[in-house]
Order: sequence, then C-alpha cells, then structure tokens
Amino acid sequence: MQRKIGVLTGGGDCPGLNAAIRAVTKSAIQRGFEVLGIHDGWRGLLDNKTMTLDRVNTSGIIDRGGTILGTSRVSPLKIENGPRQALDAVDKLGLEALVVLGGEGTLSVASKLSRMGLPVVGIPKTIDNDVMGTNFTIGFQTAVQIATEALDRLRSTAESHHRVMLLEVMGRHTGWIATFAGMANGADAILIPELPMDGAKLEELYSMLLTRYRRGVNFSIVVVAEGTVLEDKTVEVPSPTISTRSEPARLGGIANVLGDLIQSKTGLDTRVSSLGYIQRGGVPVAYDRSLATGFGVRATEAIESKTYGEMTAIKGNRIITVPLEEVEDKVRTLNLHIYRVAEVFFG
Ligand code: F6P
Repeated sequence: MQRKIGVLTGGGDCPGLNAAIRAVTKSAIQRGFEVLGIHDGWRGLLDNKTMTLDRVNTSGIIDRGGTILGTSRVSPLKIENGPRQALDAVDKLGLEALVVLGGEGTLSVASKLSRMGLPVVGIPKTIDNDVMGTNFTIGFQTAVQIATEALDRLRSTAESHHRVMLLEVMGRHTGWIATFAGMANGADAILIPELPMDGAKLEELYSMLLTRYRRGVNFSIVVVAEGTVLEDKTVEVPSPTISTRSEPARLGGIANVLGDLIQSKTGLDTRVSSLGYIQRGGVPVAYDRSLATGFGVRATEAIESKTYGEMTAIKGNRIITVPLEEVEDKVRTLNLHIYRVAEVFFG
C-alpha cells in the first residue's frame, strides 16, 4: 500500500500557506507518498472532509494568498472526546503522519496531540510572528510589506493636511508587525502590547508630537498594534455574536481611542485608519514563498525520517526543526532590541 500523509491549515490564514501546501505535496510525492489535504483545519479532520493533493492541483498556487484547504479555529481539545476522535481519524484515513500549518494555538494543539500519540510535524505560520522557536513565521514579511506601503501612503496625505495619522495594525499579543513596518516607514511613534501605555507615557507622546510641530515638522505618523494596552486595558471589537464565539475575543479600535485622546489633549488635527484583514490577504512576498518552500521540504524530510513532534523553524539562515513543545501555550514577544532601533527615529 502507498504511504500516505495528511496536511491541514489551522487558525487565521496568511499569505504563503499555499506555497507551503505546494512544497509539502510536491516533495512528499517525490518521496513516494500520497498526500491528503484536510479541509478547514482540525474541523475537517473530525468531519472527514478531505481532498487528494497532487502535482496538478498544487501547481500555480505558490503566489496565491489564503489557503486552498480552508481553515478554522476549531480545537479538538475543546470538544468532548475530541483528541481521541482526531487520533482515530488519522488512523482511519491511513495517514502515516500529519503536517500541521498553524500559529501558536494550532501548534499547541498539535503538540498536545503529539504527546497522545499523533505522528505530527508542525510548520509555523502567522502574520503576527509570535511563535516560539523560530525567527520568522510564514506570512509575517508580507504583512509588514503591506503595512509599510499603507504607512507610506498615509504619510503623503498627513503631510498635505498637517495631520497626525494613526494606523492600527494587527498583533494580538505582540508588536512585531507594528515595529517592523513602523521602522521601515520611519514612523514617529510605535505603540505595542509589550510596552503598555499609562498616563505618563501618553503625556510623553503628546509632548513629542507637539515638539515636532514647534520644530516645523507639521505631520506625524503613529503606528498602533491592535493589542496595545492602555491603562491596563485592551479594546475589543464590539460584536453582537461575541458571546456565542468559542474563539478569542476580537481586538480592534485602540487607535480610535488614542486618536481621540491625541486630538483633544494636543489640539492637533488627527485621523485614524485601521488596516485590518487587508494585511492578511493577497499575494505573498518572495521571502514568505521561499520560507514556506523551505519549511515544506524540511517537514517532509522529518516525516521520512519519522522525526515527529517537531516543528520547522528558521534560525539565522538555517532551516531546522525544534521540538513542538517549545511552542506550547507560549507567545514570542518582540525582541526589544529591535524596538530600540526604531525608537532612535521617534519624534
Ligand atoms: O493571529 C493572526 C491574527 O490576524 C491576529 O493578528 C488577529 O488578532 C487575529 O488573527 C484575528 O483573528 P480572526 O481572523 O479570527 O478575526
């Protein structure tokens, strides 16, 4: 019987997932495996929703955003008997191993299922870049590129109208996107979850913005990560369906709160934009395609050598694997040395 592996994408989508699906599929076929795509993350495994992946249906997808397999935030750990069902499903489908593309949530589930006996190899992906054990995740560089382009556009209109422009970017727990994009744009302030804002820090921000005007630079760009903590609080998107969601609360709106404060405390004309899901969609940049390709091939090699319970990672410019347990229930916050570089150009 032909050896068979499965592949699924879980959690929020990001550019580069299809490049990884293609890489896993084509490299696994070359090694003699059959490849089964599982729809909509863990949900598809529990509901037996699959498709055969082959050289034809994974051709021409390296530059396509999203995931051809679909995704969901369903976790077998939150379903009664879910872990058992997931392990049984893998057996029933005749899978020798499962490749799981996910962020911290999906990979933590994979790690726990691995301890229960699931033969799994993880691949880290999320625009947030907050997965432990790897320098970069698939999707991050594309999100940074999109956010940088948005900031560049905002700067020209900010200059014309002499305004303070705030851009809210994603980053539930971390300021990776905000800091990399802000640094690339030369932003005047970057607010991130790792550095909570209190009254004193707000005063510093107002004073910095006013000083710029006094110096004769009459516009400012402020990047705000959605998870920025203001006076010990984050801001959630108001949603009538929020109580029925088993998913984490949706963040969004902190930049509006800050924009109102800046306008009223400084008197400077202030406007707010939010990039939202635009930074998660569309064509992946070359770096994410290459990273996804490297990760996909490395994951197949790990399966070939039956090295399960591992996740592909990039450290320096080497693609390696690290134990999935390193990722479990942890978030990789921004390396503040990077922030200190961006900060040199504030104000
Ligand atoms: O994890 C990636 C991410 O884009 C976060 O930055 C954001 O908070 C979250 O997903 C949004 O999730 P959803 O797609 O469920 O609204």
